Amino acid sequence: MTHVLLTGGAGFIGTHVTAALLAAGHSVAILDSGHPAAHRRPLPEAIAGVPIQVADLRDRDAVAGALRGVDVVVHQAAMVGMGVDLTDLPAYVGSNDLATAVLLAEMTRAKVRRLVLASSMVVYGEGSYACPEHGPQRPPARARRDLEAAHFEPPCTVCRAPLVSIPIDEDGSLDPRSVYAVTKLAQEHLSATWARQSDGSVVALRYHNVYGPGMPRDTPYSGVAAIFRSALAAGEAPRVFEDGRQRRDFVHVTDVAQANVAALEATERPGFSAYNIASGRPATVGDMARILASVMAGPAPVVTGEFRLGDVRHVVASPRRAADELGFTAAVDLSAGMADFAVAELRA
Ligand code: UD1
Repeated sequence: MTHVLLTGGAGFIGTHVTAALLAAGHSVAILDSGHPAAHRRPLPEAIAGVPIQVADLRDRDAVAGALRGVDVVVHQAAMVGMGVDLTDLPAYVGSNDLATAVLLAEMTRAKVRRLVLASSMVVYGEGSYACPEHGPQRPPARARRDLEAAHFEPPCTVCRAPLVSIPIDEDGSLDPRSVYAVTKLAQEHLSATWARQSDGSVVALRYHNVYGPGMPRDTPYSGVAAIFRSALAAGEAPRVFEDGRQRRDFVHVTDVAQANVAALEATERPGFSAYNIASGRPATVGDMARILASVMAGPAPVVTGEFRLGDVRHVVASPRRAADELGFTAAVDLSAGMADFAVAELRA
């Protein structure tokens, strides 16, 4: 049995990680700030019987106290999503990077040497692509004029033909394109440096598009699955941006929780390693909307042609390294996951 300090244990993913760790026979202590962006209601006293210690990770004394007797830290606490605008910048850097820095410093003092870090596919920026003629490419951000002309596929940098999306693996170059993405990559870099200098072990899990019970409802920070579910629950059609053919890997939150257990139980890997946590069965946003509309017996999705300048076109991942090295494979396919999501409680 391992004693785990779980940060962000009261959040959407953290709640599922708590349950999975307990089910796997580990003991868990939860630290959560109860940040109002993630929790519009007061926190419960406990999650699955584990009391929540309410504190911000930047509170060194609270972190030092919480680390007593801990073998491994599973760090889920973060401010997520695309944010509202650039006035969010200090909040993202503070909640994600300064907080991680304090955590790592206190882990050093407490001689806790193992960390499982919730990272994100946003560290890649665009996914991987190839031009049939000119080979592999990692395209830059799409130009507004291309999007306005409904040319949604990133073009080949040589011949301008539409590129073909291919699964990205963990060796893909990193190209964070939002404040949130920069803070997630900084967490990876800070913890990799910490691992090198402390002989520690860090397993970073690059989550793809997580959905499932307890997902935050329609907020500026919500993912597309929750936005579509809220629309359908209100009797409205999901509004699918671009041409609906943009691809993502939607991974069920119970699979993400299992990935954390697998990372915790994998033989201690010295230094820093990162893994895609994905279903391995990507879907278009249009397909996901159709499946959800059908299981909720709601109106068919509308493809609007709208676009968000910051959006990437396709991010699909190879799940192979997580399977080979952590023994993690996602169990829930999109149809079963969406059927469950259609009736699940969301976070108010
Ligand atoms: C999401 C998360 C990001 C997380 C990443 C990996 C959000 C806002 N983004 O990024 O924080 O790190 O997954 O887990 O939670 N779309 C529509 N209609 C809508 C809203 C969105 O068609 O009403 C489309 C978007 O244009 C985009 C796709 O859905 O093509 C996905 O959007 P979103 O859920 O915001 O996620 P990501 O950008 O993939």
